[in-house]
Amino acid sequence: MGKKKVIAETGAGQHGVALATAAAYFGLECDIYMGSVDIKKQAPNVARMKILGANVVEVTEGLQTLKEAVDAAFKAYANEYKDAIYCIGSVLGPHPFPMMVRDFQSVVGIEAREQFINMTGELPDAVVACVGGGSNAMGMFAGFLNDPVDLYGIEPLGRGEKLGDHAASLKYGTEGIMHGFNSIMLKDENGEPAPVYSVASGLDYPSSGPEHAFLQEIGRVKYDVINDDETIDAFFELSRMEGIIPAIESAHAVAYGMKLAKTLGKGSVLINLSGRGDKDMDYIIEKYGIR
Ligand SMILES: Cc1ncc(COP(=O)(O)O)c(C=O)c1O
Repeated sequence: MGKKKVIAETGAGQHGVALATAAAYFGLECDIYMGSVDIKKQAPNVARMKILGANVVEVTEGLQTLKEAVDAAFKAYANEYKDAIYCIGSVLGPHPFPMMVRDFQSVVGIEAREQFINMTGELPDAVVACVGGGSNAMGMFAGFLNDPVDLYGIEPLGRGEKLGDHAASLKYGTEGIMHGFNSIMLKDENGEPAPVYSVASGLDYPSSGPEHAFLQEIGRVKYDVINDDETIDAFFELSRMEGIIPAIESAHAVAYGMKLAKTLGKGSVLINLSGRGDKDMDYIIEKYGIR
């Protein structure tokens, strides 16, 4: 395409690190837009991006988190589209972004299905993934949509049900348009994207990808919520029980998987561990201490 630069937003920094890595490999410039709050919370990933040669652009508008980073990245792309391409970090934005991101991420779902069958001889009874914009969930679900498997997308309930205290858009939102796509979203009294909150920098976005809204509407995927406290408990539980330190985002899915397993009695639950928790360790120790 003759582009010289890649542009993206990042919340937790995972997508920023991935894109910075690819840009270094292919010799492209790379601008990553990130809110000031997330720059502080996810310092290890900021360092990684800078070491890889990316330009981390601090976004100071609004709540200074993921939504504002997306706003800034779209604005930059509109100005620089001749030389740059926007590599969006979730199943969001105008067509064909949601479809492209789903298809790239579906590698995880297809592989996980094959590996699960190889390991256990059968399909899981349920698959659980956390939902921010919805890319890790969409990729994982893509491997199982045609199977008799229950699918669960888990949104962040943050501090509670009050608008502004969570980012559970599919559970509490209504239909609307933002960032170039039509989906279910959390809105304020003026119909603008509402303020959102989650302990996880990658989940505090006021909407989710349009395909999730569709899958909820047809009843194929159940969307439910997990709050901050349950998430932090699950973060420590998985670390101590399995020796795996999960990303705070993924710990939402772990918390739900543990709850679900208790109700199932027997059977198997596949949980999508969308990221590792190295990036979160300093923040968790500082804010919560060792539990
Ligand atoms: C580890 C991890 N999981 C999940 C997410 C949420 O994004 P998505 O819902 O698009 O998978 C993020 C976003 O930054 C993340 O860093």
